[in-house]
Amino acid sequence: PDASALARAESLIGSIPDYPQPGVVFRDITPLLADAAALRATIDALLEPFAGGFDVVAGIEARGFLLAGAAAVAAGVGLVPIRKAGKLPRPAASVSYALEYGTAAIEMHDDLPRGTRVLLLDDVLATGGTLAAGRELVHALGSEVIGTAALLEIDVLGGRAALGDAPLHSLFHV
Ligand code: PRP
Repeated sequence: PDASALARAESLIGSIPDYPQPGVVFRDITPLLADAAALRATIDALLEPFAGGFDVVAGIEARGFLLAGAAAVAAGVGLVPIRKAGKLPRPAASVSYALEYGTAAIEMHDDLPRGTRVLLLDDVLATGGTLAAGRELVHALGSEVIGTAALLEIDVLGGRAALGDAPLHSLFHV
C-alpha cells in the first residue's frame, strides 16, 4: 500500500464528540471512504497480511459492508454479508451479543461450503462484542475464520481479548 495515502487515510477518520449520545465519541470513516487514494490504500493494507489465505470476505452490517465490498473485489473473492437480525431471507444462523444496554443479534445465511476460509471485516473494533459474535457465527456454520481485520481499534476498550487466537489486524489505533 501507498504509505502516504495510508497516512492521509488515518487523518481522514473524524472524531465526533457526543454522537449519537452524550459522552460517546463517534469515529466517522466517511471522509476516508470519499477519498479515492485513501480508500484504495486502506483496502490494500487491510488485506495485506491475509493475501491468498481466504475464500470469501464477510462484512458486518452496516459499516463493515462499506469495506467488505471493496475488499472482496480487490482480493478477487466473494462477499458474504453478516446482517442485523431479521434481514436475511433464507435459512440463517444467529448469534446474540451484549450491547452497553441490552443485546443485539447478527445473522448469516447457512449456505457456505463447510470449511470455507473466511476473512472477517468491520470498520471499528471497540468492545469486540460484534466481531466476536461474527466469529462465533462463522464457526457455528462450519466455516473457518482465518483472520479478522478492522480499520480502527479503540485500544483502551481491550476488545481484542474477546477475539481469541485467530490473527487480528487493526490498521489504525486510537
Ligand atoms: C459499530 C461498528 C462495529 C461495532 C463495534 O457498529 O461499526 O460494528 O459497533 O463495537 P463493538 O466492538 O463494541 O462491538 P454499530 O452497532 O453501531 O452498527 P452500524 O455499523 O450499523 O452503525
